[in-house]
Amino acid sequence: MAGTEIFGIEEIKALTDVIERKMIHRYGSHSVRNGIYRVEEFEEKAKKITGSKHALALTNGTAALITALKGLGVGPGDEVITSPFTFIATIEAIVACGAVPVLGEIDETLGLDPVSAEKLITKKTKALVPVHMFGAAADLDPFMEISIIYGIPVVEDACEVVGGTYKGRYLGSIGKCGTWSFDPNKTLTVGEGGLILTDDEDLYFKMDCYHDHGHIHSKAHDRGEEGKFGLGVNYRLSELQGALGIVALDKMDATLEKIRKTKKRIINSVKDTGIKVRPMHDPEGDTASHLIFMLPSPEAAVNFSRAAGEAGTGFSIISQNTWHYAKHWKALEEMGEKDIFGTKAPSYAAETMAATEAMLSRAVMTGLNINMSDGEIERIIRSVKCGAKASL
Ligand SMILES: Cc1ncc(COP(=O)(O)O)c(C=O)c1O
Repeated sequence: MAGTEIFGIEEIKALTDVIERKMIHRYGSHSVRNGIYRVEEFEEKAKKITGSKHALALTNGTAALITALKGLGVGPGDEVITSPFTFIATIEAIVACGAVPVLGEIDETLGLDPVSAEKLITKKTKALVPVHMFGAAADLDPFMEISIIYGIPVVEDACEVVGGTYKGRYLGSIGKCGTWSFDPNKTLTVGEGGLILTDDEDLYFKMDCYHDHGHIHSKAHDRGEEGKFGLGVNYRLSELQGALGIVALDKMDATLEKIRKTKKRIINSVKDTGIKVRPMHDPEGDTASHLIFMLPSPEAAVNFSRAAGEAGTGFSIISQNTWHYAKHWKALEEMGEKDIFGTKAPSYAAETMAATEAMLSRAVMTGLNINMSDGEIERIIRSVKCGAKASL
């Protein structure tokens, strides 16, 4: 499985150190921890890599999204625009704040289409949440322009793309704030973990307090004496995950280089077939976790998937992906046209996602691992060639 594939002696040492010192919690105990704060080091490393002024580590990517939206003051009566092609956590985070999710459509890169998002803006819109899916960036430049014109913040859901970039800048560090996930399915994992990046001091303060029961963190006091800013929750990350996070970020560049090399090799080997690789707003920044081709029609996608499968590699048709496509989420559909804390939700019926369906029903995908043998890579190449022959 991605992430744990690269675990080795470094992770064992990092965890052993935390356990031997018996200092597994991030806050407090200042007088007995010899100045060692692993979660803080993890945050410092993320700041150094991305250039963000602030980084807040927390328990997972979902908690990061909720905390970001809470920090921005999203609540009942508000609407938040996002993508129907995402993990359900994006929608759950909006609902957890008492706000209404409003779904735009995706473009051919499979990111939220800024034109469709702009059309959905109302007086109630409190945030725009483009999602960087399956390795590649949503088109952030137009989102940032829309953000300035309407005065609505962009929260980048970059949970799937740690280390990915857009025009030279790290995903998650471009909007008002952005979220990363380190869950077990991600290329870099700490078991469960999340991180929020922002340059905004005031937003950082609010998020920092919210994620830990309102505590105004200070090393000058022990926890019981710290001041409070409002009410919050407990999304604190432990030192065990912080220690793993430091190692994960140390390994980030080499890991991405490896997986990108594999993807390039496959794409170069199949280019003569005429198959169309998923277009991207910035191919250089792709984290290469997914290999996706866009077929000319849904029928061609079915033929490709069948032939590639027979040749040894499973390629799923993304419109059938129940994890990442809102069309399949019954619980969301049932919320459609009902009141969410006094505001009427739009319909979430499949017909409202026609443009997204048109893209995803032509898109075929297989995941790439970090460590792949020559044999595995050659099998994928053969499968793509068979798929292309059967469908183009
Ligand atoms: C796009 C997206 N957003 C949010 C999340 C939530 O992250 P986590 O699993 O760390 O809560 C995920 C995780 O799969 C995701 O893919």
